[in-house]
Amino acid sequence: NTLILGADTAAISEEDLLRAAALLREGETVAFPTETVYGLGGNALKPMAIRKIFKAKGRPADNPLIVHIADREALDGLVREVTPLAEALMAAFWPGPLTLVMKKQPEVPSEVTGGLDTVAVRMPAHPLARRLIRLSGVPVAAPSANLSGRPSPTRCEDVIRDLSGRVACILCGALSDIGLESTVVDVTGSEPVVLRPGGITLEMIRAAVGTGRHDEAVDRKLVEGEAARSPGMKYTHYAPEAEVILFRGDPEAVLAEICARAKQLSLEGKRVGVMTFDERAQAYSDCGEVISLGSCFQPEQVAQNLFRTLRTFDERAVDVVLSETIEDSGLGKAIMNRLIKAAGYRIVQVEKS
Ligand code: TXA
Ligand code: MG
Repeated sequence: NTLILGADTAAISEEDLLRAAALLREGETVAFPTETVYGLGGNALKPMAIRKIFKAKGRPADNPLIVHIADREALDGLVREVTPLAEALMAAFWPGPLTLVMKKQPEVPSEVTGGLDTVAVRMPAHPLARRLIRLSGVPVAAPSANLSGRPSPTRCEDVIRDLSGRVACILCGALSDIGLESTVVDVTGSEPVVLRPGGITLEMIRAAVGTGRHDEAVDRKLVEGEAARSPGMKYTHYAPEAEVILFRGDPEAVLAEICARAKQLSLEGKRVGVMTFDERAQAYSDCGEVISLGSCFQPEQVAQNLFRTLRTFDERAVDVVLSETIEDSGLGKAIMNRLIKAAGYRIVQVEKS
């Protein structure tokens, strides 16, 4: 008995928002749209609400949540100090798809931070998210609103599919603008360190504050027992049911390799999907169930389409997805990061024959 608001109408009424905000404040779970992906919110100051989020998602308790705020003043209750570096990044990118990891105040429950002494904070730009948070009057802890391990939801129907019956309320909005989760940046040191690439690219961060780097483990599989700087790094994320394999290299050679493998897999009785780009979709038409992510020259489009495409392959009961790759600079870095994780690090380097 999840209360679903705004699914059949274009707009959410003020009354709907007030209802959802009251549920949030009281410690219930409410899913809502943001410009990155849909989030599953709970009152960040109530450990009971946080436990409900973890339970609904089936999320490992040591993977901390991002706390969402609508106004700058809310930050003081959450973090111990706002460094000049954090200040500069907030000025450049808030509200927006940037999450900052800072030293936490003792008031932030350890349930939110997975026991860490830091807290991740984001001010979303989505008007509905902002109004909901403001009306609730509390900071809102919110992971992506998917079942743990599944691709993040970019459409309300994805949230309904994963969480209906498991949460108190789902607020529906439009398709998420960006389509990938926020950039997570550790600002506890002298230089910003990107723990998760996203819509705010390293290039943009460097342009704003002059320095910055990706954490060394961003795209890497952690070895057994290795401590992650960001706990989210160690979980298989974004994974569809289908097995995903990435192919990198000369485009013609990749095309030939994907089609050859597709043929072989079909002979073995597997249903094969091909994930590609507009420029080459036609060339794959005989090789499997083809879905294009958009133009390879428009990474914004590819980012927006990625998660729902992975979900579509599952809906079509595809067993194996053979996927092309994109240049991993700029927003392409975030796209490749999600693809690599969806593929469980299976990447085939194809040489020109
Ligand atoms: O765009 C987004 O960030 C979305 C929307 C809803 O805002 N939220 C989201 O949350 O993607 P989630 O829980 O799926 O991802 C949070 C990530 C995880 O990788 C987690 O490990 C990392 O942020 N994180 C949270 N707190 C952290 C901390 N204190 N230190 C390091 N990493 C942290
Ligand atoms: Mg997530």
